Amino acid sequence: MIPLPPRWMLFTGVLAGLALVIPPAIIARVRATPDPNRAVHIFFDMDFQPKFKPQQVNPMFADGRSQRPMVAGTVAQGETNLDAHLHEGVVDGKWATTLPAGLEMSEEFLARGQQRYNIYCSVCHGYAGFGDGAVNKRAMELMSSSDGPADGTAWVQAKSLHDPLVREHQLGLLYNIATNGIRNMAGYGTQIDLEDRWAIAAYVQALQLSQNATLQDVPPELRANLKKEEVK
Ligand code: HEC
Repeated sequence: MIPLPPRWMLFTGVLAGLALVIPPAIIARVRATPDPNRAVHIFFDMDFQPKFKPQQVNPMFADGRSQRPMVAGTVAQGETNLDAHLHEGVVDGKWATTLPAGLEMSEEFLARGQQRYNIYCSVCHGYAGFGDGAVNKRAMELMSSSDGPADGTAWVQAKSLHDPLVREHQLGLLYNIATNGIRNMAGYGTQIDLEDRWAIAAYVQALQLSQNATLQDVPPELRANLKKEEVK
């Protein structure tokens, strides 16, 4: 039989074992107890910048407020758009049917609208507005090819601007759609200038008229120039 070590050795061993548990226990406790004071700071980083926190007193100002009131006459960005006709396309709570003050309908204005439409809108809606732009064609191609999405993603086709419902849209609504988008279509308010968005809206109406004009829309002196078979 192996002889037991002397008793004093056993006691010392057990005590030493217990003592070993103390440091990790202290560390665990310190880590688990919230302490409003930061622990030893080795890297200061930017933790101790002088600054005023909300609601603190700032003796530099007579009223002692660290949060300064707005300077008189300050206008928030959104509050500059006070003209509902110009900015939203709305007059008296209804979609505007005229251009806002300061914008004049002219051939030049429509030509500008056409140019901007061709840049920004035709990619989806097509040059003539039938919803058959290049992006749309490509998307339709992809959707029906084997490279198309397999997860059931749907492509919402750009709407034809000659759709009977869209043809009823007032100038202000067309402007608003160009600005804020509608349903699946994103808005172009941040990319296209305000005046250009009105020019585009006017041009969309010109496009619509171009596909639905009658003989009455042609000035009498020019009617003779029309080829018979093309008159509706
Ligand atoms: C990236 C493709 C894309 C571009 C670019 C685009 N549209 Fe659209 N547009 C759409 C889609 C898609 C719809 C149909 C949205 C739906 O039904 O959810 C739509 C719908 C519309 C409608 C019909 C809204 C209605 O009442 O149903 C108008 C008007 C319109 N767009 C005007 C414009 C104008 C003006 C521009 C250029 C500033 C433009 N779109 C640029 C994709 C586009």
